[in-house]
Amino acid sequence: METATRNATDGAMPSLTAPTAQAPGATGRVLSISHLTKLYPGTTTPAMDDVSFDVSDGEFVSLLGPSGCGKTTTLKTIAGLERPTSGSIRVGDWALSTDDQWTPVHRRPFGMVFQSYALWPHMTVAQNVGYPLKARRVSKGEIRDRVMRALARVQMEDFADRSPTRLSGGQQQRVAIARAIVHEPRILLLDEPLSNLDAGLRRQMRLDLRRLQQELQMTAVYVTHDQVEACALSDRVIVMNAGRIVAEGSPQDVYERPRSEFVASFMGAANFLDGRVERVTDGSGEVELHGAHGTIGRLRATAPGDDVAPDDTCRVLVRPEHVALQVDVEPDAATNGSRDVDGLVGAVESVTFLGEQWEITVDVGGEKLTVHAQQRGLVDVGSLVRITVLPQFVRLLRENRPPAQPSGPQSQGGVSTKVA
Ligand SMILES: Nc1ncnc2c1ncn2[C@@H]1O[C@H](COP(=O)(O)OP(=O)(O)OP(=O)(O)O)[C@@H](O)[C@H]1O
Ligand SMILES: [Mg+2]
Repeated sequence: METATRNATDGAMPSLTAPTAQAPGATGRVLSISHLTKLYPGTTTPAMDDVSFDVSDGEFVSLLGPSGCGKTTTLKTIAGLERPTSGSIRVGDWALSTDDQWTPVHRRPFGMVFQSYALWPHMTVAQNVGYPLKARRVSKGEIRDRVMRALARVQMEDFADRSPTRLSGGQQQRVAIARAIVHEPRILLLDEPLSNLDAGLRRQMRLDLRRLQQELQMTAVYVTHDQVEACALSDRVIVMNAGRIVAEGSPQDVYERPRSEFVASFMGAANFLDGRVERVTDGSGEVELHGAHGTIGRLRATAPGDDVAPDDTCRVLVRPEHVALQVDVEPDAATNGSRDVDGLVGAVESVTFLGEQWEITVDVGGEKLTVHAQQRGLVDVGSLVRITVLPQFVRLLRENRPPAQPSGPQSQGGVSTKVA
């Protein structure tokens, strides 16, 4: 236990679940986090602020958010490496942490993988992986069997007797994963386990990790600041900002139907345009869009819920990859944007080849719009293009309306683009 606690502060430790630990029920909610708050000593702002979520049996959930938003604090609190200021943690019916209950880290039913995998250099790979079993007093013969099975799951069985100091970063990470799963915990906690790896290896490990989690039917809580990783791995993503949960849903839902500008831009490249709702029919609104110099056109947009009314000022989200560009636009189309329904007209300002796609910047009435296209087509710098977007890909964001803008939407600054 001494060793476990010391290594925990290094960010990596094997889980030492007590042999008596009760596995949670086979169905339903496995992990229940309720109103968790953490105020570190000497600080005035909670690092984790009223965080609540449930994780179901076999579910892969990611905590996603920018640096410092409280992801690691949340995971460490679940693991028992940090004590919450208030709130509770339950696994099935088992109260791990409440106002008057506290289960120490080594008794919690988790396997853990942290960013700095910190394998013990004085032990072989097999000894590292076997440690959680040894701590549970599993017999030597059984330890060897189970270690070899865990190593085989991460394709590392040929390295059992090697020192971890003679492994690459990716291999070390595989060993750390083998160590986390060797005692078959029902719940895996992973904190940015792939962040030390290069892009190719990350992609491969992402697939391996997902396959492993599904094969072993483990429940997983995964911390990352990488939205691609979160989307690729998760059944559900929970987006955090400044200690709080700001969005939750399937990766596709949060990406395509974000309810705030923060979530939209954190999930991927985004254009935001200011506008005014003209008409609303069946949850879709016709929005007159404004740039710094006046109306730049109209798009039909889909709103979350039905809380949009004519004359509302709003922000509209358009993802670069959802834009269709049409060339052969009449030269006078650019000047009569105010009469255009369903479309914007602009001049191509730049065309950049990014390898997997083209990035095209279009100047629409003085505002810049970023467009991603698989093919360049006939788009040239200087040419006029018409921009259309299917209404289901134009999201109306109400809660990010700029506060009081008495001089009208034109003063709101028009289009802003964030390409993450
Ligand atoms: N031991 C500590 N004492 C005081 N403040 C802390 C401590 N650990 C973290 N914090 C603060 O709490 C906030 C959340 O930190 P946390 O490590 O949970 O963020 P994170 O989302 O994991 O960030 P990153 O993506 O950079 O790892 C930060 O403002 C951080 O400075
Ligand atoms: Mg962190």
